[in-house]
Amino acid sequence: MLGPGPSNVPPRIQAAGGRPLIGHMHPEIFQIMDDIKLGIQYAFQTRNSLTLAISGSGHCAMEAAFFNSLEPGETVLIAVKGIWGERAADICERIGAVVHRLVKSPGESFTLEEVEQGLAKHKPVLFFITHGESSSGVAQPLDGLGNLCHRYDCLLLVDSVASLGGVPIFMDQQEIDILYSGSQKVLNAPPGTAPISFSEKAQKKIFRRKTKPPSLYVDMGWLSNYWGCDGKSRMYHHTGPITNFFSLREGLAMLAEQGLENSWKLHKENALYLYEGLEKLGLKLYVKDEAIRLPTVTTVEVPQGYEWKDITAFLMKNYSIEIAGGLGPSAGKVLRIGLMGYNSTKANVDLVLVALKDALQQCHKNKI
Ligand code: GLV
Repeated sequence: MLGPGPSNVPPRIQAAGGRPLIGHMHPEIFQIMDDIKLGIQYAFQTRNSLTLAISGSGHCAMEAAFFNSLEPGETVLIAVKGIWGERAADICERIGAVVHRLVKSPGESFTLEEVEQGLAKHKPVLFFITHGESSSGVAQPLDGLGNLCHRYDCLLLVDSVASLGGVPIFMDQQEIDILYSGSQKVLNAPPGTAPISFSEKAQKKIFRRKTKPPSLYVDMGWLSNYWGCDGKSRMYHHTGPITNFFSLREGLAMLAEQGLENSWKLHKENALYLYEGLEKLGLKLYVKDEAIRLPTVTTVEVPQGYEWKDITAFLMKNYSIEIAGGLGPSAGKVLRIGLMGYNSTKANVDLVLVALKDALQQCHKNKI
């Protein structure tokens, strides 16, 4: 599965997920949840006490972030440079927030100056930006954004679903107030759990809100207790996805054993190797600025004379390789190749390049 996720699950994580079920309120599962919390704190580079995994996919974590931190009528600023900003704005409109968008073309990133103009103009209480924009293949630089938002009395919320473990991120050092990710990308666990963490500033805002969060399922008051973050004895809230907790714990353990620096380096090296091979095939990378290419998801322009669907279908049929087409604003324009965690290897790059070379020979519209 060399698309933008889910990525393949390594045998060790699969074995963890195959363990017999235990109860969602047994002391053993609480120990596992505590381990997950430590693993997320390491992966996010944070000491935040309110750190846990949402029982749901990255979308659920996105909703959890907004549902808890935003109240109806409050102003939010959303950086839109691909599908995730569009989704975030949609969620905020459903909450009844006053939503402003800062828009860039897919394939580009935002500068600090552009963000500052937006903050000065709209005075939001919350600013959202995607770190790894998987629809366009862009890694948004984050340095300075947290400090900037705080100077404007605004919280910084970052989506790192497609980038966590593949691109450096330092939640505390970069002053990110709310950060979430997903289990099914670099962490190589099945979809269904989503790490999330809240800074002290974010906790102050969410625990002093005037209205209840619109969802009970992702209410951080409840989840903070269920995850042992509030120092009180744990109460039943919902039935956690126990099997997915086993897998997520293993994925986080593998990342910790490898070390974040090694993981970041490996993703970068294999992405560079892929770019070189794609260019040798005459293909064009969609993100022109090398400095902002996302090493976990590479976007390639659909070559002239080809239909993207013919290429993805050819790879699946003849090589059992999944790559994807574009998503949201990049739909129809790109092919997306994912190299995440266990899948980020030179051997996988070689494999996908051989398959693409064949596809370029076989799928030209004049030939079909
Ligand atoms: C989903 O995360 C995608 O980028 O396709």
